[in-house]
Amino acid sequence: MRSRCLHSVYFAAGQRRQRGVHSYIRGSVPALWHNMIKYYLAPLEGITTHIMRIAVHEVFGEGICKYFTPFFSPQTKRHASSYAMQGIRPENNEGIYLVPQMLTDYAEDFLAFEKDMRAYGYKELNINLGCPSGTVVSKGRGAGMLEYPQRLDYFLEDIFAKTSASISVKTRLGLHDEDEFYRLMEVFNKYPLEELIIHARVRDEMYAGSPHRDMYLWAKQHSRNRTVYNGDVFGPGDEMSDNGPIEDTIMLGRGMVADPSLARQLLGGERASKEELKEYLRMLRERYMARDPDERHCLEKLKEIWAYMREQFPDRDRDIKEIMKARRLEEYRIAADRLMR
Ligand SMILES: Cc1cc2nc3c(=O)[nH]c(=O)nc-3n(C[C@H](O)[C@H](O)[C@H](O)COP(=O)(O)O)c2cc1C
Repeated sequence: MRSRCLHSVYFAAGQRRQRGVHSYIRGSVPALWHNMIKYYLAPLEGITTHIMRIAVHEVFGEGICKYFTPFFSPQTKRHASSYAMQGIRPENNEGIYLVPQMLTDYAEDFLAFEKDMRAYGYKELNINLGCPSGTVVSKGRGAGMLEYPQRLDYFLEDIFAKTSASISVKTRLGLHDEDEFYRLMEVFNKYPLEELIIHARVRDEMYAGSPHRDMYLWAKQHSRNRTVYNGDVFGPGDEMSDNGPIEDTIMLGRGMVADPSLARQLLGGERASKEELKEYLRMLRERYMARDPDERHCLEKLKEIWAYMREQFPDRDRDIKEIMKARRLEEYRIAADRLMR
């Protein structure tokens, strides 16, 4: 069964209460929805900013139940006025349920982050155990933590001994080989995770090849925690494994950047109309400009989105090229308008 998200009863911690349903505001998903297929928006650093998240929510409605911030590291945290920190402020995330994500291999860092986030009203947090970047992995962080299950166990033990937040983990299947996940599952099963979000690839695969959906089904069967599938869902049917449909909550990443109506479609709704796409792009353009009047920065952000959205326009290479080479916002606007005509 697929579920539309009931935003009237399910919104960011620390936000204005709506329609007298505050009994649900505990930072976790109401039990009622646990058996339904839901969709989350994955964190994509530099792309799923608060500006993008809110535009998706305002234009494409209620398909996404949970949004995750791109990862914070102890370094990001120090710059309280930074763009990333603006992205956490409840007033910049009105109407959505947001889960802040942290990337660290020190329990103390995580607990300090938890304290900061609590001040903003967030009671659910996510730990990044999937980042494949060389500089992160070489320091034993992100997917680098998966190489040492014992260390990971101590890290989670320290956190769970002291935390009062709901904590989910976003992981890969291992560093080099999916068989590593058998041992990792023993570790995850020791802790009461809010949920275990699995990007069904190992670190060495980065984003190439097909996700190991069957391994995900194994994980779903053997996890004591609720699982969430992530990886290569770009359209209806992509949730199929060799052994049948995944039938679980699904976190959508690049597919939602390419087509922000994807969750709605997976719920049986319409594809984005041109009018909706125009409105979405207008919001992004105006809000990025309002944040930073240097149009080069705004163009960078828009082009990052178009690098994925272009998939929707396979026969419009010339117009896409115009968009990607625009050096002024006005050139960009004209090219994007032409494409949407
Ligand atoms: C440009 C980019 C940035 C990403 N940033 C993050 C991040 O900050 N935190 C995280 O957990 N995953 C990050 N990811 C991974 C995505 O959340 C997701 O797991 C991945 O894109 C696979 O899902 P998809 O096939 O639906 O896109 C990033 C991926 C990309 C391509």
